[in-house]
Amino acid sequence: MQIMKKNKLQIGMIGCGVIGSNIFDIISKRHADVYKDHLVVKSIIVRDIEKKRDLNLLGTKISNDISDVVKDNEIDLVIELMGGEEIAFDYISKCLMSGKHVVTANKEVIAKRGSELFKIANNNSVELRYEASVGGGIPIISSLGNDFSSNKISGIRAIINGTTNYILTRMSDGTSPFSEILKDAQKLGYAETDPTADVEAFDPIYKIIILSNLAFGINPDHNLIYREGIKDIKSKEFIYAKELGFAIKLIASAQKFSKKLLIRVHPALIPKDIPMANVNSSLNMIEVNGYLTGPLWFQGAGAGAETTSSAILNDVFRIKDEISKSEKQKTKIFPEDLQLLSMDMHECKYYLRITVKDKAGVLARLSKILGDNGISINTVLQKDTDVKFNNAELVIMTHKANEKIMMNAIDNIEKLNDVVKFDSLLRVEEY
Ligand SMILES: NC(=O)c1ccc[n+]([C@@H]2O[C@H](COP(=O)([O-])OP(=O)(O)OC[C@H]3O[C@@H](n4cnc5c(N)ncnc54)[C@H](OP(=O)(O)O)[C@@H]3O)[C@@H](O)[C@H]2O)c1
Repeated sequence: MQIMKKNKLQIGMIGCGVIGSNIFDIISKRHADVYKDHLVVKSIIVRDIEKKRDLNLLGTKISNDISDVVKDNEIDLVIELMGGEEIAFDYISKCLMSGKHVVTANKEVIAKRGSELFKIANNNSVELRYEASVGGGIPIISSLGNDFSSNKISGIRAIINGTTNYILTRMSDGTSPFSEILKDAQKLGYAETDPTADVEAFDPIYKIIILSNLAFGINPDHNLIYREGIKDIKSKEFIYAKELGFAIKLIASAQKFSKKLLIRVHPALIPKDIPMANVNSSLNMIEVNGYLTGPLWFQGAGAGAETTSSAILNDVFRIKDEISKSEKQKTKIFPEDLQLLSMDMHECKYYLRITVKDKAGVLARLSKILGDNGISINTVLQKDTDVKFNNAELVIMTHKANEKIMMNAIDNIEKLNDVVKFDSLLRVEEY
């Protein structure tokens, strides 16, 4: 790393949207008295230079040509806030290769191309920091990178998508459907116009990959990880889950089993008395299980301009303060060589909701299929009998079972003449 003796860092910014404009506002206006002696934003790269921006640029140059930053030898550090993969990778790597430190909030490029970028940073003796990419202002990246080096980590489990947590919290009273709440989330600015990354759970996949890399030194292809979003969850599930003593949350988990690591992202039932069940609205929580520490919970606002800006500026100042190599995220006393474990091997209790013909012997036939697969039932609730169609709704909580065996049992259950519809399957988290 270049040892920086300069008092004032010259910054280049790529992207000036929600986060970029907030950072610029903090540095140049709101907290200019604090920052003016330390940082100056020399250039900003955007996509559209004609766009009207509510910023007083003063002496800052605005451009759509990345070489205005890359070729400017006075710029020491670049903050990348444009998002996405391909172009971001190209711009970040060019900045690193030209000897500039980079701070980014971009989880997608770090999850997909991080190992290439870290290599480029290393080869050019510069820093690449990404605290804001997971958990907004929660200092989880630096904690995992620095404070667990003498600890083995057995697992990480997290609520790391504020948008879906807001939607699930609103759905928890069972009165409003997903589609209606998603529209509200978009109006409030929690969800983007295209909500795919959140509701289809790509965003938490990228984040759990980043955390897994820090905790376990594994950097798997995101396509290999079990991913299930929240858009198919029905309001009813929240009412029944509550009655059974659970909340429903979108969980991202990386759990070690001997020499293998199971990474999964899906909605799950969380027992009501566990802190994670009470992390509501757009809050995030990350649980880290260290062999020596036991479970540690990091909770806070997982997104938003102010908290994200806090994480970015902390990274900027860490670089400015000449973080020594020995403190960097790579030093682990327990290096591990883990392989990905298939979701087929996952074991948990299951919540099943099934619409059946309301006639004698149905439950016995369902129980037989589960029993033949070695799956035992814990609780059965009979709900919402539909007199007109002579249908009944069964909610079944099972004891612990294996994922592959459960999927096989469900295939057989769906073939039963008595089954009108297999409505829902949710996994229960164990604590
Ligand atoms: N928003 C949050 O709460 C939050 C929280 C944590 C992390 N993050 C991460 O922070 C990053 C920025 O998010 P944001 O919400 O600020 O995004 P945003 O509002 O969409 O802003 C994106 C900025 O990037 C610029 N840009 C896009 N494509 C470009 C290109 N090809 N060349 C140059 N500039 C380009 C855009 O330029 P124009 O202005 O000209 O369109 C815009 O200024 C993302 O990686 C995001 O995942 C965001």
